[in-house]
Amino acid sequence: MRKEDLMRIVEERIRECQMCPLGLIKKNAVPGEGNLYSPIMFVGEGPGEEEDIQGRPFVGKAGQLLTKILESVSIKRESVYITNIVKCRPPNNRVPTNLEIQSCSDYLLSQIQIINPRMIVPLGSTAVNFFLGKDEQITKVRGKESIWRDSIVIFPMFHPSYLLRNPSKEKGSPKDLTWQDIKRVRKYYDEFIKGNAEK
Ligand code: URA
Ligand code: URA
Repeated sequence: MRKEDLMRIVEERIRECQMCPLGLIKKNAVPGEGNLYSPIMFVGEGPGEEEDIQGRPFVGKAGQLLTKILESVSIKRESVYITNIVKCRPPNNRVPTNLEIQSCSDYLLSQIQIINPRMIVPLGSTAVNFFLGKDEQITKVRGKESIWRDSIVIFPMFHPSYLLRNPSKEKGSPKDLTWQDIKRVRKYYDEFIKGNAEK
């Protein structure tokens, strides 16, 4: 089956899901969106209010900042794939519980399998803990590569909501570090695209 058809099936399952209580109280599930052929996936925590209304990931304030961060290195958000650890909004944007994360994890794993990216960029603690384990701290691991399941590069970055709360651009500030990180992501992106063209 084509990636498009496989992803449509996963999206349908997500929209109908009632594996955890978030599925009952959502307005819209937010499966994710973007280029199924992208070598890079960005994974946030979970939908916020605006995402719940629109059914699309990262379209509220934090999402607009993520879009700007990508555009700062000339990556269009449509050219990568963007999703979240949980696909339905936790009430008042609280951190999703372990149970919610576990209930939702098959969807993310299916999406990763379909897209088969070279690199995953977890945004913020919840996504970092999903890929790297509970003991890892975002402030320690951001901007550092590791390998997940023997094949996919994990390159964590700060969550854009954290940057909204910490707007300083001073050297060493979260925003400054994110600027360095996204430039690295751009380099990887170019290498992945070049590598594919040569194959
Ligand atoms: N924050 C997230 O983690 N994900 C979104 O989609 C929006 C805000
Ligand atoms: N804490 C978080 O939850 N996310 C960040 O990106 C940084 C600190």
